[in-house]
Amino acid sequence: MGLLTPTTWDLTGRVTANAPVSSGLLRLDVELPRSVTFEPGQFAMLNLTGAGQLVFRRPFSILASDGRTMSFLYRVVGRGTERLADLEPGEAVDCLAPLGKPFAAPDAATPPVVILAGGVGLPPLHAWLSRHGRPGDLACFGGRDGGDVPWSLLSDEWRVSVDRDVDIPAGRQAHHGLVTELALSELERDGDPGPRLVMACGPTPLLRAAAMLARDRDWPCLVSLEEHMGCGYGVCKGCVVPVRLDGPGDSGWRNANSCTEGPVFDAADLDWERFGAHHATGGAA
Ligand SMILES: Cc1cc2nc3c(=O)[nH]c(=O)nc-3n(C[C@H](O)[C@H](O)[C@H](O)COP(=O)(O)OP(=O)(O)OC[C@H]3O[C@@H](n4cnc5c(N)ncnc54)[C@H](O)[C@@H]3O)c2cc1C
Ligand code: FES
Repeated sequence: MGLLTPTTWDLTGRVTANAPVSSGLLRLDVELPRSVTFEPGQFAMLNLTGAGQLVFRRPFSILASDGRTMSFLYRVVGRGTERLADLEPGEAVDCLAPLGKPFAAPDAATPPVVILAGGVGLPPLHAWLSRHGRPGDLACFGGRDGGDVPWSLLSDEWRVSVDRDVDIPAGRQAHHGLVTELALSELERDGDPGPRLVMACGPTPLLRAAAMLARDRDWPCLVSLEEHMGCGYGVCKGCVVPVRLDGPGDSGWRNANSCTEGPVFDAADLDWERFGAHHATGGAA
């Protein structure tokens, strides 16, 4: 069953900006006919209009929403994102938003968070930190190299790691290595062994490493998945992921719609063995 909520809008907006913020990442700003609120972790299904229209819309996390302008951060990986990158200011974009289950806002019982964002996994966690960040939270971003990092989006509270230690701008610092290693070294430096809530979004190996890091310490962990999606609201079943059944005596699993039950999942609910194999499959038309 489809789960379009009364707060989801199907709108045609106009591009106001579409430009690189690093060597590999672009920021797209779309002015919509009305303001649309969102919770960090929610996403939009975007499409072009007219001759450039794709058969299936493409999912993108919402980076920010300011008045009637909704912003996205994306990397060109295929046909849809190539077409998106060609859009000029004034051109039309179809936008179905907001969709999906967000990262929850913290309450008094929520421990300090450790944010692990990889590449285009930045938008939901950037939005979360901007809206809900508290003293003691640790935010880490992992990029390919210094040129790939969207420095202009990352305030000094963000720690940065890079796979290749090149093109780091003057005045900024980056750890050479994995983003999980960076987070652990920052936590060790603080000398605070207290519990943390780990929140991660990015490539599957990063999500898996985040889940293992949390599991080994008995910390809670939320991950946002970037599965292929057809509809974005629970109809096509193109986005299913294996989750564990947790009833008494259950050792099985079931398929969950990533678009409606996620994209944010409790890492402990995912069947990581099946998820890894399943995630290697192909793209959308
Ligand atoms: C909830 C959600 C949020 C997302 N947020 C963002 C975001 O903020 N910024 C961003 O750049 N991307 C994001 N993505 C991924 C984005 O949807 C895909 O990159 C996009 O659909 C690719 O479309 P395409 O036509 O350019 O590529 P295609 O031609 O469909 O595919 C090109 C290549 O990219 C791979 N690919 C396509 N989609 C995905 C995917 N979802 N995950 C991994 N590999 C994929 C394909 O397997 C293929 O190898 C998100 C995905 C989801 C589900
Ligand atoms: S994308 Fe269609 S059911 Fe999830």
